[in-house]
Amino acid sequence: MDKLITIERHLIDRERELGASGTFSQIMYDIALCAKLIARETRRLGLTNMMGATSIMNVQGEIQQKLDVYANDIIIRMNSFTGRFCAMASEEEDEMINIPSQYGYGNYVLVFDPLDGSSNIDTNVSVGTIFGIYKRKTESGRGDIDDLLRCGNELVAAGYVIYGPSTMLVYTTGNGVSGFTLHPTLGEFILSHPDIRFPHTPKYYSVNQANQRSWNEPVQAYTRWMQGEGVNPPKKSLSLRYVGSLVADFHRNLLEGGVYYYPGDKKNPNGKLRLVYEANPLGFIAQAAGGYASNGNGPILDMQPDQLHQRVPLFIGDKTLVLKAEEFARK
Ligand code: AHG
Ligand code: MN
Ligand code: MN
Repeated sequence: MDKLITIERHLIDRERELGASGTFSQIMYDIALCAKLIARETRRLGLTNMMGATSIMNVQGEIQQKLDVYANDIIIRMNSFTGRFCAMASEEEDEMINIPSQYGYGNYVLVFDPLDGSSNIDTNVSVGTIFGIYKRKTESGRGDIDDLLRCGNELVAAGYVIYGPSTMLVYTTGNGVSGFTLHPTLGEFILSHPDIRFPHTPKYYSVNQANQRSWNEPVQAYTRWMQGEGVNPPKKSLSLRYVGSLVADFHRNLLEGGVYYYPGDKKNPNGKLRLVYEANPLGFIAQAAGGYASNGNGPILDMQPDQLHQRVPLFIGDKTLVLKAEEFARK
């Protein structure tokens, strides 16, 4: 690497280009610091008391893992006293997070999934963090729920951190997607993936195929199409890769080309994933990288959430492959 560009340097340069106030850069820098703190715990997971479950059930009806609680706590603590946000919401919190009255507040809003892929924590498989940043909608005071129930196309930035063999932070403000790798000894996020775009030719599809029998016929037919059925002249069928951490599956498909989907089924018509914390931020990144996110019938980013924790069927990644899912749904 001939030039080392830290995330700080990158943000300052962007700020100059845009003539921005600097608040956004400071927010990103705080998020990068949260990522480092969480990464420090993931790296020494088997050596500390951070593996395993708590006895607490979250609002999603899932038992929280110790790392879920740690990551949630870090992100709330590191961002509630800075005076930059007027409201926050986390997948792990029942209600919106108010900024404590002893601290100032600002014009931004933060939504996040502190630890994505919880079922993979104890087996040393990649997990992640997902975040989205909005400008407040209300005029003044501490924010309220209207600042948080927002369409994805109102995001001003979104990103994720993947805690894998290396830790990476990937973000966009809607114009270009930048990826940074945490240098293990410098402790800095270094620009390693300057302008990420979905490759022209996709390679993978990612889905929990164990659920196949409960999908509707269009989703089953879509999956068979990806396996090569009915494609003439025969195209090379895609390979299946499924980690079970959305961030890791999305990241692979972003770099190598592919689609991730978690459709609804008879029991859970809205699937499993959450619109506010997962689908919208990743959908915003997908779009900025030339991809697309759909609920199976139309754009995720156009959906108006009516509940913080609402779930949504998600098809995300390579644009052609996602559009194909919509085509099957219309047949
Ligand atoms: P979370 O750990 O934040 O609750 O998210 C888990 C999600 C997502 O990361 C993953 O793609 C999906 O759940 C896996 O679900 P299945 O185990 O049902 O395949
Ligand atoms: Mn998640
Ligand atoms: Mn989570």
